[in-house]
Amino acid sequence: MRVAIVQLNPRFGDSVGNTRKAIELMHRHQADLYVLPELFHSGYAFACRDEVWALSEAIPEGPVSSQLAAAARKLEAIIIAGIAERSGDVIFNSAALFDPTGWIGTYRKIHLFDREKEWFSPGDRPFQIWSAGGIRVGAMICFDWIFPEAARSLALQGAQILCHPANLVLPYCQQAMITRCLENGVFALTANRTGGENRGGQNLSFTGKSQITGPRGEILFRAPATAVGVYSVDIDPQDALKKQIAPHNRLLEDRRPDLYTLSVP
Ligand code: ACM
Repeated sequence: MRVAIVQLNPRFGDSVGNTRKAIELMHRHQADLYVLPELFHSGYAFACRDEVWALSEAIPEGPVSSQLAAAARKLEAIIIAGIAERSGDVIFNSAALFDPTGWIGTYRKIHLFDREKEWFSPGDRPFQIWSAGGIRVGAMICFDWIFPEAARSLALQGAQILCHPANLVLPYCQQAMITRCLENGVFALTANRTGGENRGGQNLSFTGKSQITGPRGEILFRAPATAVGVYSVDIDPQDALKKQIAPHNRLLEDRRPDLYTLSVP
């Protein structure tokens, strides 16, 4: 299976142009699964909630979703992309999953980062996985990386590949994903953006270095910091079913949840 990360530098507010460019890039680089960055169509440094609202859409009826569904059909591939999702009168920072049959599901970012809390509502549904092309995939978005429970929740449900749209501004995630993958025995596709946005009182630089990480913590591919492009590797998703880490140890099964404290008393 060929899996791809699409590293982009979206132009703020140009949802039409950013979507067109992402789809063009995917058409030039064959893969079975593509992961696009968080909010790849809108940009990130919003000045106010009205801006997010204007750029948001219902999933899967909206124009970005419709075009991604059509692209997944044409490419005969799975696409996961970060979209500003409008639902009723609230907005979620979401990742939508499409396969050649259409829209499969949506993950709403649970752990909002910094000023995202001013415009987005936090995800209101648990981490879940989907079966796409016979592979079990899960989604987490950007800052979810710092909460090990995110990747663990997906792995415990049987995820083989963690699809991870991102707009990273802190320098730690790529290294952390090595541990997330190793401790869960899963693949991760972290699709980050590059460039910067200086608006709305925020001056942000995005770190690029999108990464494909393997189930033993191998960095299978790390993109440059600034380039825009589609990068892919061939993987065997069955490798994520091999949880034996030592003759007497199996990841996940050897956990002792009866002795863990997972909430602050
Ligand atoms: C982030 O969660 N976009 C840093």
